[in-house]
Amino acid sequence: MLKESVRNVLARFGLSLHRRESIHRLFRELERLRRIASTVPGSNEPPPARATSAQNTDLHAELSQAKEALDWYEERRNFFRLTEDYDARAKEKTIIAGASRFGHIDFADLACWIFASSLSNHRLIHQRIDETTVLWRSVKRTAGPILEVGRAAGGSTIAILGSSGDRNVVSVDRAPTYPEMTKAVFSRPDVQSRLKLYSQSSREEIAEREFGMMFIDGDHSYEGVCHDIATFWNCLKSFDGKVPLAVFHDAADNPIGYVPAVKRACDELIGEGRVARVVDSWGSMLAVEKLGDLDQDRWYAKEDRGFWRRYAGPGYPVLSPRTIRSTRDPAAAALAKGLTNLLGEENLDDPSWIKVGTDLDIVFLEADNPVRFVRETPTAGEHKVEKLVPLGLSRFAITMFLRPVRRKVLRLAVRAPSGAPMAEADFALVDDCRIERQQAADGARIIDCGFLYGNGFFRCDLAVETLARLPSALISVAALDESGSPRYNGSPDSGFMVNLASVRELP
Ligand SMILES: C[S@@+](CC[C@H](N)C(=O)[O-])C[C@H]1O[C@@H](n2cnc3c(N)ncnc32)[C@H](O)[C@@H]1O
Repeated sequence: MLKESVRNVLARFGLSLHRRESIHRLFRELERLRRIASTVPGSNEPPPARATSAQNTDLHAELSQAKEALDWYEERRNFFRLTEDYDARAKEKTIIAGASRFGHIDFADLACWIFASSLSNHRLIHQRIDETTVLWRSVKRTAGPILEVGRAAGGSTIAILGSSGDRNVVSVDRAPTYPEMTKAVFSRPDVQSRLKLYSQSSREEIAEREFGMMFIDGDHSYEGVCHDIATFWNCLKSFDGKVPLAVFHDAADNPIGYVPAVKRACDELIGEGRVARVVDSWGSMLAVEKLGDLDQDRWYAKEDRGFWRRYAGPGYPVLSPRTIRSTRDPAAAALAKGLTNLLGEENLDDPSWIKVGTDLDIVFLEADNPVRFVRETPTAGEHKVEKLVPLGLSRFAITMFLRPVRRKVLRLAVRAPSGAPMAEADFALVDDCRIERQQAADGARIIDCGFLYGNGFFRCDLAVETLARLPSALISVAALDESGSPRYNGSPDSGFMVNLASVRELP
């Protein structure tokens, strides 16, 4: 319909769809006339040479529609257009000159410059061909186990598997999907024996600690990328004398697109000095060689403070946590955990999460980030989110990634379906973080309770043992007021952020 309307306007001026320059000229002319009209002393009427005001409005509306449609066409054209990467010619020459025998050139060394692919012709993989060649080459240049963060439909996992011979591959994604052909690859016996899939946030621990290469394409927020770098960079090491590499998607400036937050984190990594140096880049894909370890705690402390300041508001300082860990050893606790995320991957949006005295806001912290703001409603009573989780367990651990907003203490609780309390812990998530109170009831025992701060969120853990297997339990997070009470008059500026949650079986 829009296209039809565009055609009508253009036909009126004897123009065709392809003559967008003329359209812009018409717009400029229209604006010029408007300006002239507005300067005629004592009159806001258009000059007599122009059409009547009704006709003008009509024309302007139609041209606005035309412009909207043209923008849409432009966007489509960009999708299909062959846009050359920056420095494409120089990079092509380097590859061609670097091939000692052209008959043995790696497929990836051809594919980045003889094919064209765009954002619109993805199938399983969320990358362009030239970008995947960086991944492929990086796998070939390294040895040892490979880590992938962010597999989505498994396209990049398949590329890694296809280029990695018999090497072990570990892939982490909080919400993966499994199209038919991905399942076909993942279920092959030769793949199953070397592929380990985690369906969890990369903020939760994994058992593997050493990799010869890693590919980061998960949480694209500044906090998320810094967290992946803080957690996994020091796990990179040399295998078989080959240099360790890290590959980041959406990290490099190029004519099609990248994610500024990812680029910022990678720029800072490279800017560290003797930590990383760029070795390959096509499109937004960036491969860096690891030169040395980084200061993990400094990287965990990174966050987009401008963003959090907007939420903190006047008179309420942005957190600067000094205590980033409680005394428990999170690594030891994590290794004991099962792999099933019993809360599923639907974040808090699912109606099975009951919102008591709260509403849910989606917080935009760059693509693929599942942060939700649990905002208090201006009502008296409790302000929390709660879910009845099927368990069938007597030993389990809850992990929630939380950040209070204009509140200080959050309560993580497990209750029987009847509402009877079983275990709860109050986390004072302030600069000098601490666990203020833990309490178990009804024969339940708190095995472990702790927190860990990293890149904007406090990871709060509560591990519980009950007398008998619980068929199900209510899991909740509530905000407390200044006096430590869960019942108060809510304020829509206050509440807490949640970034993922899991309940896992303990052995
Ligand atoms: C851009 S997609 C990955 C595309 C894939 N690498 C490819 O090239 O085909 C990003 C993925 O990261 C996942 N993700 C986002 N945040 C995550 C986190 N904190 N931990 C693990 N996975 C995460 C999302 O579920 C999503 O599937």
